[in-house]
Amino acid sequence: MRDQAEQLREIVSKLQKGNKGKDRGYARVITITSGKGGVGKTSFTTNLAVSLGKMGYRVVIIDGDFGLANVDLMLGINSRFGFRELMSGRLELDQVMTEGPYGIKFISGGSGIKELVNLGTDQLNAFLSSIEELNKMADVILIDTGAGATDNIVKMILAAHEVVLIVTPEPTAITDAYALTKIISSARPDMQLQIIINKAESVGEARGVIEKFTRASERFLGIKVKELGFILEDAHVSRSIKEQVPYVLGYPKCKASKQMELIARRLSDKDDLTNNRGMTSYIRRFISLFKLKDGHESMPSNTDEVG
Ligand SMILES: Nc1ncnc2c1ncn2[C@@H]1O[C@H](COP(=O)(O)OP(=O)(O)O)[C@@H](O)[C@H]1O
Ligand SMILES: [Mg+2]
Repeated sequence: MRDQAEQLREIVSKLQKGNKGKDRGYARVITITSGKGGVGKTSFTTNLAVSLGKMGYRVVIIDGDFGLANVDLMLGINSRFGFRELMSGRLELDQVMTEGPYGIKFISGGSGIKELVNLGTDQLNAFLSSIEELNKMADVILIDTGAGATDNIVKMILAAHEVVLIVTPEPTAITDAYALTKIISSARPDMQLQIIINKAESVGEARGVIEKFTRASERFLGIKVKELGFILEDAHVSRSIKEQVPYVLGYPKCKASKQMELIARRLSDKDDLTNNRGMTSYIRRFISLFKLKDGHESMPSNTDEVG
């Protein structure tokens, strides 16, 4: 009897074959996630977006956190509408997008994302054709997901080709991130997984975590996790959140800003157009994962390898 992970691999591989070539040159879709909450995903996402915007990239952020959506707060913008209005056909794409600094655009996915699965064919097609527009207006689409290994979040991750995993040096953050990596690697061995260490006290501490994590992932999970960089603990981060101005704008010379610049440059260096599959195929894959009952393996209990 075939297990669920195998079924999932098959479906994903069919989808990939179907999409190859067609979407080349489309927006690069990156999900930003973590095993544990409060590790700095949203502040990372907004500041990365601004840094990429500064470099001349056209960036769209989708807030994919169903529970604690707060990208707009950190960007200092106000958004009233999102996927929900777009899906119902009540509003057009440009009416649900809000513009932030450096022309970055923001869309609230929110709870609308979960309802995608319930759309009828006509509604879904209308939604997908407006999403298609995103591919033309963006070079990079960043999706800020909620934390953890719940079904919905894992599906949001598995639908992408590229994931940035945010980890802090806390043991709980590391083991939760490792558990998530285990799920991702078994369902999508081809996933481009990149790691960021956030809130480390020193470069040495950050390097230690990166090394331990990448080594354990390669040895026990057979997946190469790439190092994207680190952002040390920096009081400017929380100050900038209170001020609702991303730190790369408000404190461009602080440690976190310098480290973020390096990360943005590294990420853009890795830009490989052949791996782009665009936003439309992201949504299609996401929906097909939903239609698959229990689309991924449950949370593995043994995470000793990285401890
Ligand atoms: N590099 C950092 N240095 C200091 N504090 C940080 C850093 N990154 C994030 N924080 C703090 O951690 C908290 C959670 O950040 P947030 O981006 O909301 O995390 P998440 O989206 O993962 O829940 C915020 O209060 C923020 O100020
Ligand atoms: Mg968040």
